[in-house]
Amino acid sequence: MNPSGGLFWHLHAWRSQPLWAPTCADIAQWLDAMPIPQQGPSHELLVIGASAGWMLPSAWLQRFDSVATYDLDRWAAPLFQRRHGAALRASGTALRCHTHDGLANLPSLLQAHPRATVLLDNVLGQLRFHHPTVEAASKQIDHITRSLRGRHWGSVHDAFSGRSQRRSAGMRVAPMHRSLQAKHTGSSTDAAPTRSVGLALFSDPLAAQGEWLDHLTDTVFPAGTAVHHIAWPYSPHYCHWLQAGWVAA
Ligand SMILES: C[S@@+](CC[C@H](N)C(=O)[O-])C[C@H]1O[C@@H](n2cnc3c(N)ncnc32)[C@H](O)[C@@H]1O
Repeated sequence: MNPSGGLFWHLHAWRSQPLWAPTCADIAQWLDAMPIPQQGPSHELLVIGASAGWMLPSAWLQRFDSVATYDLDRWAAPLFQRRHGAALRASGTALRCHTHDGLANLPSLLQAHPRATVLLDNVLGQLRFHHPTVEAASKQIDHITRSLRGRHWGSVHDAFSGRSQRRSAGMRVAPMHRSLQAKHTGSSTDAAPTRSVGLALFSDPLAAQGEWLDHLTDTVFPAGTAVHHIAWPYSPHYCHWLQAGWVAA
């Protein structure tokens, strides 16, 4: 069973479109602000953990000459085609959707697509559910970010999630905020400044309750990366705090 995809996820995403609309608007704004790499814009995009692209705007994908998606979930490819295929055909963007482990095979994907921009699309924060221990998940996250060195890449991922008292249907629960990724110190207070920025920004507006789950993504971005903090009311009483950023080659 896929702990972060599958039919239940698609059904929930389909039903939650009105609730998720403000989060999708924030993600679209972050994507639109993608910095152009120094060696010129890439015309090729690889999306890892694309699912059906429930939270991705077709208009942004249309910027590219070709888009390739990778997801473990066998429903992801046909649903992505269904949601974005027509728009991408209209813009002449080639679309290929693969049912494939895009993370274990990342080095070979990068080798096969040396100029492609890579988007890790809400997948890194899910890895703790794909591994038996948090150490194994953290190790894979570290390995992934190392393999991306020298590449123009971006990620949107869960930082924390937990119960929220708020009935948030259709409302923007908190405005998007920005900060710079703090230096990783390698101690137990790793990325503490980034955490405290997020917690201060979101714990009140989200009416956070109890302990929130740490998605092990606090050291994904190198120090100095501009990080967008985005609230995602996953369901009326459960919220995720997402982080999104672009890393230059
Ligand atoms: C939260 S969903 C992503 C949502 C998606 N970005 C959207 O806009 O609909 C996480 C996805 O990551 C996928 N995933 C998890 N591990 C993966 C891997 N190693 N390679 C490719 N996809 C993976 C899951 O199957 C799931 O569809």
